[in-house]
This record gives sequence, C-alpha cells and structure tokens, in this order.
Amino acid sequence: MIRRMPEAERAGVHMIICHCTSITDKEIHAAVEWMRSADQDTIITPGKVYRVLGRKPDCGGCLKLFVDTMRQSSHLEVPLELQNLRGRTIQDGESHEGRRQGH
Ligand code: FES
Repeated sequence: MIRRMPEAERAGVHMIICHCTSITDKEIHAAVEWMRSADQDTIITPGKVYRVLGRKPDCGGCLKLFVDTMRQSSHLEVPLELQNLRGRTIQDGESHEGRRQGH
C-alpha cells in the first residue's frame, strides 16, 4: 500500500500558527533551526522566535499552539547540562545560596 503525502505538504501550504502576526509553522521551524545552528547552547523560547522573525505577539491566544509547534522541531532540545534542573533538590550539606532554610 502506498502512503499518501498530506495534501498540505504537496501544495506547499503551511499552517498559520499566530494569526495576529501571520507566523506559519514553517517560519517557526526555520527560526528554531536557525537559532540552534547559531548557538548550540541557547534556550529557545517563544519570545526569541518572535524576535528572530521580527515580530511581536499581540493577544497571546496562540501560545499553546506556538509552543506545541516549536516542540515538533528536532532542533529544540535543551542543552544536556541544563536538562532536569527543575527536578533537582538541594541535598544535605549543599549551599542554600546564603538563604536561611524555609525561605
Ligand atoms: S494569535 Fe498570536 S499573538 Fe495573537
């Protein structure tokens, strides 16, 4: 059985992700790829994508779809040394950066 290419791909049509600024999924993927190739260690955020594309978000209604589209890119990976920072806990004997415990 031959699998059909989706119609949007055949026609070269791309989906508009942000209607306020007319940013397409293709532009988001290109921006993510460009930023990753320029700096391997950068953390890519939606705000950076907007800046790279020379636009500013307006209503913010697209944010979830915007981030989901960014996540589809294979170039979005967070640098290895910055992964799992949220899951780390302070172990006994480690510095609390001068703060008292409980603050
Ligand atoms: S739809 Fe993207 S900022 Fe409004």
